[in-house]
Amino acid sequence: MFYPFIRKALFQLDPEHAHEFTFRHLRRISGTSLQCLIQQNVPDKPVTCMGLTFKNPLGLAAGLDKDGECIDALGALGFGAIEVGTVTPKPQPGNDKPRLFRIVSAEGLINRMGFNNLGVDNLVENIKRTRFQGIIGVNIGKNKVTPVEQGKDDYLICMDKVYSYAGYIAVNISSPNTPGLRSLQYGDALDDLLSAIKLKQSELSSRHQKYVPIAVKIAPDLSEDELIQIADSLVRHNIDGVIATNTTLDRESVIGLKNSEQAGGLSGKPLRAKSTATIARLYAELNGRLPIIGVGGIDSVEAAKEKLDAGATLLQIYSGFIFKGPGLVKEIVNGLSPK
Ligand SMILES: Cc1cc2nc3c(=O)[nH]c(=O)nc-3n(C[C@H](O)[C@H](O)[C@H](O)COP(=O)(O)O)c2cc1C
Repeated sequence: MFYPFIRKALFQLDPEHAHEFTFRHLRRISGTSLQCLIQQNVPDKPVTCMGLTFKNPLGLAAGLDKDGECIDALGALGFGAIEVGTVTPKPQPGNDKPRLFRIVSAEGLINRMGFNNLGVDNLVENIKRTRFQGIIGVNIGKNKVTPVEQGKDDYLICMDKVYSYAGYIAVNISSPNTPGLRSLQYGDALDDLLSAIKLKQSELSSRHQKYVPIAVKIAPDLSEDELIQIADSLVRHNIDGVIATNTTLDRESVIGLKNSEQAGGLSGKPLRAKSTATIARLYAELNGRLPIIGVGGIDSVEAAKEKLDAGATLLQIYSGFIFKGPGLVKEIVNGLSPK
């Protein structure tokens, strides 16, 4: 109800300052009794996916709460899952500022944050403190200074540290803002990474007596052949799920608009069609052999249904949450029919 006013004020600030300002306040109330001020009651609409039961299909996408600082407060808004991260083994500052831009007229964002985060150990401490009853996904990546040929080691380090605290682990090989990262989506590099991750998962599941599913997050900028090859690899390696999609490098839907020429990944409404097309293509290829978590431009019940119709089992939002506010969580969950 109040969000249009809050948004007006926040949009006077530079986008990263608006984020920091909001998080400063959210951090204060997260996990305290003051959280009731933002609590939203959403109906239970349970969905089983990757062997886990999500209380509703809508999750928060990675990148908003990179360090897991506000899991309880964000959870109070009604999300069925919160994906924290991307987190890397060592803390890193990310790219130079400014690195986050709004394309207001198109309801899009461009970011080139570059995995700014306080490192995996800090994230684990934050997860240990949370009382959130939903599923916590941990999205992992590699440090910028780690050569891409050794990137695998960073994913394994993160897996080791987060395994017993994560509901699922998301392997991010699709951020456009870490040089070389997207090359891990192809051919031998992908096979090599997925083999190592599955081996690690098997070792950790015996050690912790707990199976934590692995989802791989892919880009929307893949050719049809590349998508087919990725789907084949995911199935061959018994990966548990796929998150489609990350942000796009394509600017066709925002040509001529202010900020559209900024380097980085584009998200929000201008990404919607491309991400849905990726999900539909992936679904045709996977044939139900692994579930798809659909993300990219969801900002309404209709957009959420479009992703489900394309083949997604679960959904995530980021940019829509910035443009439409917390009420969007309630609106979408209310608007979806129970499975
Ligand atoms: C500012 C910003 C930071 C992001 N950081 C990450 C990240 O660290 N890891 C990741 O996997 N995705 C990241 N994303 C991508 C989102 O998780 C999501 O895949 C993408 O924005 C598409 O969804 P949307 O259109 O609802 O925003 C980021 C997106 C934005 C806008």
